[in-house]
Amino acid sequence: MNEQKMNYEHVLSPIKIGPMTLKNRVSFTPVWPSFATADGHVNRELIEWVRDIVKGGAACINIGCGCVNRNLPPFVTHLLRMSEESVVNEMTILSDLVHMYQCKIGIELFAINMYGGNFADRDHNGDKPAVELDPTYMTKEQIKEYIEDFALAAERAVRCGVDSLVIHGAHGQLPGCFLNKRINERTDEYGADTIENASRFTVELLAAVREKIKDRLAIEYRINANDMIEGSPSLDEVIAFVKRIEPYIDLLHVSRGMHSEQKLAPYMNQPIYYDHGINIEDAAKIRKEISVPVTVVGSVTLEQAEQYIAEGKADMVSMARGLMADPMVVKNAKSGCPENTRPCVRCNYCINRTHYDLAPVRCSVNAELGMETLYMNLGNTLPKRIAVIGGGACGNRGGENGGAKRAYSRSL
Ligand SMILES: Cc1cc2nc3c(=O)[nH]c(=O)nc-3n(C[C@H](O)[C@H](O)[C@H](O)COP(=O)(O)O)c2cc1C
Ligand code: SF4
Repeated sequence: MNEQKMNYEHVLSPIKIGPMTLKNRVSFTPVWPSFATADGHVNRELIEWVRDIVKGGAACINIGCGCVNRNLPPFVTHLLRMSEESVVNEMTILSDLVHMYQCKIGIELFAINMYGGNFADRDHNGDKPAVELDPTYMTKEQIKEYIEDFALAAERAVRCGVDSLVIHGAHGQLPGCFLNKRINERTDEYGADTIENASRFTVELLAAVREKIKDRLAIEYRINANDMIEGSPSLDEVIAFVKRIEPYIDLLHVSRGMHSEQKLAPYMNQPIYYDHGINIEDAAKIRKEISVPVTVVGSVTLEQAEQYIAEGKADMVSMARGLMADPMVVKNAKSGCPENTRPCVRCNYCINRTHYDLAPVRCSVNAELGMETLYMNLGNTLPKRIAVIGGGACGNRGGENGGAKRAYSRSL
């Protein structure tokens, strides 16, 4: 398509996702910016970071990694505690702020490992891939508790005033692990031997969540089209799984890759030398087989978004880094000057900060990102002459995987 002539009519058109109507088809995919107080409360930094993103015109912002686990240990720091009542008051303020910008807000729900340590420490079984929570070692009582935890957090999310829930089943998170034959070694009705058994946990979880929230919020599910490790379900099996969860969800997010395998990190956060839109063909194949709308993530550009939606390959798109590098992506397209958008250079400095340094998010090309509160009330500064010397994308943070270092304890 000719970039000059593109009017983004498809991407800028509204879409209904369950009970929520999105003003366009670009959503900010779940990101945890590593803001929150140490004990998991909303802070000013989170609020202003959210404002910075939503003022650029995206239809929805998804806040990453709301922990659902009851009795979180104190070492789980700087992650929103959707398991605690105190979150309701603060999250309501965040939801109100987002709504002021005619944007919708979603919260991602996930269960974190309660024991900490790095992935290698969690690997109970030699060369077996380690994951956030391995279903093999869960008692049925624990399975029941996790489902209850998700349902209670969902009910709390309704009172927080959010519009949607994103259940994280991609990147090696718990629901997805039940599907993987190498990870899930159970031999009971939650085993990975049949799709019916492998889907059981997720179906029970989504049914419990739906029962709590009824149709007040949209339910979105994040899936890996491909785990990219031994034992991964095939695409046909993924589709069979989605058909089972379809009655409970309003939107499917398609991603790929696992956090626990370092060599797969670039498939989740593609560095500069990977293609844009790497998940679209899988998303399109899944979309053909199901009736709920599909969104796709993975370095998707706005031009690709327009093309995918026009061609019926996806119903909408999800972006993270593109919208952090320049939150004005949508407004620029709407006002006919997409060339004003500052592109993400896919250096992965942002995710190195949040997931590997466990520090607040920053961006190599957007100096304000994550520092909104620090720039407030700065007053006028005198103009200075500056020289920019060198600008390699991997810069000083580079690792063998496009800037990604070995994960320590978080796999969000
Ligand atoms: C700083 C940062 C934090 C992220 N946090 C989360 C998270 O909390 N939950 C999640 O599911 N994905 C998280 N992701 C992954 C994104 O949702 C997305 O899948 C990934 O960045 C690829 O999309 P993009 O190419 O548009 O950035 C994060 C990504 C980045 C860059
Ligand atoms: S830090 Fe790098 S990868 Fe992250 S949003 Fe900014 S430019 Fe993109």
